[in-house]
Amino acid sequence: MQVDRFSLYSRNKLKLGLFGANCSSGRAVTMVPERWSGNWPDCLSLAHLADETGIEFMLPVGRWKGYGGDTDYQGETLETVTWAAGLLAATRRLTVFGTVHAPLIHPMIAAKQFVTADHIGEGRFGLNVVCGWNEDEFTMFSATMREHAARYEFAQEWLDVVKLCWSHQGTFDFPGHFIKLQQARAKPKPFGNSRPIVMNAGASPAGQSFAIRNCDALFSMTPKGKLAEFAAHVTRVKALAREGGRALDVYTVAVITCRPTMREAEAYYRHSVIDNADWAAVDRILAMRGVTREAFPDDFEERRAHQANGMGGMAVVGDPDHVSSELAALATAGARGIALSFVNYLDEMPYFAQEVLPRLARMGLRE
Ligand SMILES: Cc1cc2nc3c(=O)[nH]c(=O)nc-3n(C[C@H](O)[C@H](O)[C@H](O)COP(=O)(O)O)c2cc1C
Repeated sequence: MQVDRFSLYSRNKLKLGLFGANCSSGRAVTMVPERWSGNWPDCLSLAHLADETGIEFMLPVGRWKGYGGDTDYQGETLETVTWAAGLLAATRRLTVFGTVHAPLIHPMIAAKQFVTADHIGEGRFGLNVVCGWNEDEFTMFSATMREHAARYEFAQEWLDVVKLCWSHQGTFDFPGHFIKLQQARAKPKPFGNSRPIVMNAGASPAGQSFAIRNCDALFSMTPKGKLAEFAAHVTRVKALAREGGRALDVYTVAVITCRPTMREAEAYYRHSVIDNADWAAVDRILAMRGVTREAFPDDFEERRAHQANGMGGMAVVGDPDHVSSELAALATAGARGIALSFVNYLDEMPYFAQEVLPRLARMGLRE
């Protein structure tokens, strides 16, 4: 296998990343005092640790407004492209993504920011394009959230412009429906005659088709106990990308609680995600998506519990043997990589690195 930016500069069959560290509380909607700060010194220490332990990537969450509740969940967030630039300057191997709301920034400004970060990281910047789903964030910007299909039509033009800025050597016009450019020019190009890896996490047919047409990686959630469905999804989207002459990898998301024994892991999971969940924030997040007890009387409690756990990622709770076998099962189902989160990334990562990474190596998933 060629080791390049699209393989995240590693030969590992299963890539691992850290998801959501740029936000206060990360991805755990919890009130426990050790919850993640999201501040710069902690992010920097985490990036150093990730770089040293061979973790391939860090993926931030693009969030502009906290969710309220007792903790103002994700109320403090570091802007993702400047965050990536800082981390890239301080690391040697890690790929760092910027998560960018296409409708909120002009694509030529965005493209130049990405190129700048990519030069700082000597080819290690990655782009996560998001269309946004959070109406009150858009209201804050006086921006209108388009109806769903049009969000991805706009994103198509936006990404076409970004890619033109990255690749077109001369001056170009762009007579789009949403975006119009005249005599546009963008220099320099990304690092090393290549371009940043581009990902998207669309779940709808329009979102997935956007990834199939444009992206190197699609991030998809894996519902617990539905590995066969996930495997079928991976096969389907990869085949569709191939038909269009492209290669697409599918990544997924897991929320890790790893402790020396199953009992300890389950106890901490219950303590952090159930007994001390920030339920007011959880209910607000759900209500923003129209999920209320009245609308979903049969499974509201289940949806609530799922939301408290890492904003909906697959919960992997157990001792190192259990955690490694669950991650391996995701790899067997076709996941090229997994974006991980912890209640406190810095406290929990050393144990994970010490116990789980060697097990994954013995399984042939990592070197
Ligand atoms: C791994 C992952 C990361 C995501 N990151 C963000 C983000 O940072 N900001 C955001 O507004 N949406 C984010 N989303 C939401 C997706 O971009 C997308 O809008 C969502 O999955 C719904 O799919 P759809 O847009 O096709 O309806 C993320 C989703 C996933 C699975």
